[in-house]
Amino acid sequence: MDLKKYELQNEKAELKINGQVYEFPILEGSKGERVIDISSLRKRTGCVTLDYGYMNTGSCASAITYLDGEKGILNYRGYSITDLADNCQFVEVAYLLINGCLPTMGELGNFKVLMNKYSLMHEDMIHFFDRFPPDSPPMSILSSIVNALSVFYPEMINNPMEKIDKMAARLLSKVRTIAAFSYKKSMGQPLVYPRHDYSYCANFLNMMFDSPVAPYEVDPVIVNALDKLLILHADHEQNCSTSTVRLVGSAHVNLYASISAGISALWGPLHGGANQAVMQMLERIYLEGGNFKKYIEKAKDRNDPFRLVGFGHRVYKTHDPRSRIIKKVCDEVLTTLNCHDPLLDIAKEIEEVALHDDYFLERNLYPNVDFYSGIIYKAIGIPDDMFTVMFALGRLPGWIAQWKEMWDDDNWRIGRPRQLYVGPAKRRFMPIDKRTVCDERFS
Ligand code: CMC
Repeated sequence: MDLKKYELQNEKAELKINGQVYEFPILEGSKGERVIDISSLRKRTGCVTLDYGYMNTGSCASAITYLDGEKGILNYRGYSITDLADNCQFVEVAYLLINGCLPTMGELGNFKVLMNKYSLMHEDMIHFFDRFPPDSPPMSILSSIVNALSVFYPEMINNPMEKIDKMAARLLSKVRTIAAFSYKKSMGQPLVYPRHDYSYCANFLNMMFDSPVAPYEVDPVIVNALDKLLILHADHEQNCSTSTVRLVGSAHVNLYASISAGISALWGPLHGGANQAVMQMLERIYLEGGNFKKYIEKAKDRNDPFRLVGFGHRVYKTHDPRSRIIKKVCDEVLTTLNCHDPLLDIAKEIEEVALHDDYFLERNLYPNVDFYSGIIYKAIGIPDDMFTVMFALGRLPGWIAQWKEMWDDDNWRIGRPRQLYVGPAKRRFMPIDKRTVCDERFS
């Protein structure tokens, strides 16, 4: 990627250190957003930057996803998330993210053929599921098994760019199978294998819910809802798990291992794990008689570590555009299934109160993608501990696309942040028999 062409010719950033002024190029992206290119900073000044949580740090140039957190805009490859969610199947969006263009009928057909071809798991891998202790979190199973794919399918590891289409199809297809199998194993039910005659989402639902004694009837409304949910989760630029995939991949680790690391990062309750935490929070409120105001007060109390899960976002400082679409899907699914969920009522009441509360307004805290998604998953029959697995299934094409973009980028470097060292400047070494317990050790 030639970054020179994004450089502003008439504007530079100036940094003054000890009276000396250093100039740095300013780059402008295709939507007008600006970054200061400080790649020569340390060489020229001897200084590095300090930016906890990378709040102000761009780690790469990317052509995949555009996000404007102030305006609540999210685009994949230039297409608005609303257009994609309204008009596409998840597999088309996966193709778009990975290849850069929406597929033609023929391209989509070929991609689906590849996915069907790779949908089965190596039978030896199925024994893996038996060795996990009961109640193992499905995210841990998913991460381990995805990592193990590299040893079962090593042929694509060298020169991955030559075979990236196959690797992508294999991952998308197999992760769906692994996810459904881990659920079936946890239920002690026989595994249901993927079918070539079903779409991506219908296949997943069938593998999850079909059983020899009660055949599953695929409901197009549920398939459509799942397609939308997965599309909305498919990429979100340089978030925690995607940055993990890029960072791990930057050491030239294979795609499977990089994605396995991304799955682990996504597991955290501040990231993808929030959808499960939201449901736990709503259930707690419901069981305690629905007194949600108590929890809003707890969230506002600086001395209480409690946070209103499903609210707030590092980047969005207005409504998360995904949460609006999800809220609509949630209503559609519950109406179709003719099911009333009191947790949805509580969620809507919380949203209503929080959106008019100064604490949340001043801090720009709005419902995020995870606030309503759990209610949909629950209505479909997906258990709590699979919610984050669903997020991973959706995020997979984004991780693949970002990993691929990194490999293709001439500016690629191994990821290696710097630090401000604040430990002891120098200590005298003491032999073990001369050492005393020192307070410093614990500081
Ligand atoms: N409830 C109550 N207060 C909050 C919340 C919340 N959910 N989120 C942020 N705040 C407050 C926070 O206490 C701080 O207040 P103050 O300025 O008085 O110290 C202020 O808002 C800024 O918070 P922050 O922690 O500096 O913001 P951040 O950008 O570092 O954190 C976040 C972003 C998503 C981790 C955070 O909003 C949060 O913990 N939310 C709840 C967990 C959640 O829903 N996560 C899912 C995120 S969306 C899915 C994904 O992308 O993975």
